[in-house]
Amino acid sequence: MSNPMIVTIDGPAGVGKSTMAKMLAAELELAYLDTGAMFRSVAWRLGSGVQHWELARLEEELSWIEFALEGSGADTRLRLNRNMVGEEIRSEEVGMWASNVATLTPVRTFLKKAQQDLGARFSLVAEGRDMGTVIFPDAPHKFFLDADVKVRAGRRYLQLKDMGKPANLKELEESIARRDKQDRNRAVAPLKAAEDAMLVDSSHLSKQEVFELMLKAVKG
Ligand code: DC
Repeated sequence: MSNPMIVTIDGPAGVGKSTMAKMLAAELELAYLDTGAMFRSVAWRLGSGVQHWELARLEEELSWIEFALEGSGADTRLRLNRNMVGEEIRSEEVGMWASNVATLTPVRTFLKKAQQDLGARFSLVAEGRDMGTVIFPDAPHKFFLDADVKVRAGRRYLQLKDMGKPANLKELEESIARRDKQDRNRAVAPLKAAEDAMLVDSSHLSKQEVFELMLKAVKG
């Protein structure tokens, strides 16, 4: 069997990585891996006090967590201990918890292995913050998506409204900027573009335009 094919998409919060990962995965008939959902569901499961835990407790709790991936394209499903990862992890508050747990080395080490294990078994479009730099440095196709923070906050606002969730544009902008700062400046695997990633600024591009640009780059 040939090696799985990996496409990586990194970028800051709310830039549209998941949307592009789903669209590309559907078109290329690959699974997609939402690694933000892995950090979010670990944060959700462990709770907000985890930063104050002793190392042994954190490692013990992590050892009970197992991720699995099923299906492909836009229908790819991520499971944590056999349970579907659900909508409860999608709030900006859980995003911030996820950004907090993402600064903890034991969590990153644990999820790095889980992500690389999935990448060894499935051809993937993998999206997150360190896919092209740390998790899949040898991936043949790497993208770094970026957009102005105001544009990203506006998109997230509409997404939350669509899901029937409460949303405040100014608070979203502040929270996204705070999260970006923490994700870009943490010591381990900070958010940054891989040297060989294609940079795409989507501030003034439509979803379809970004998708076509990326698809063309993958297909060559
Ligand atoms: O992509 P997202 O908003 O669902 O990610 C939530 C948080 O998880 C993000 O602010 C930082 C962390 N994260 C990370 O550190 N590394 C990844 N590969 C993916 C997410």
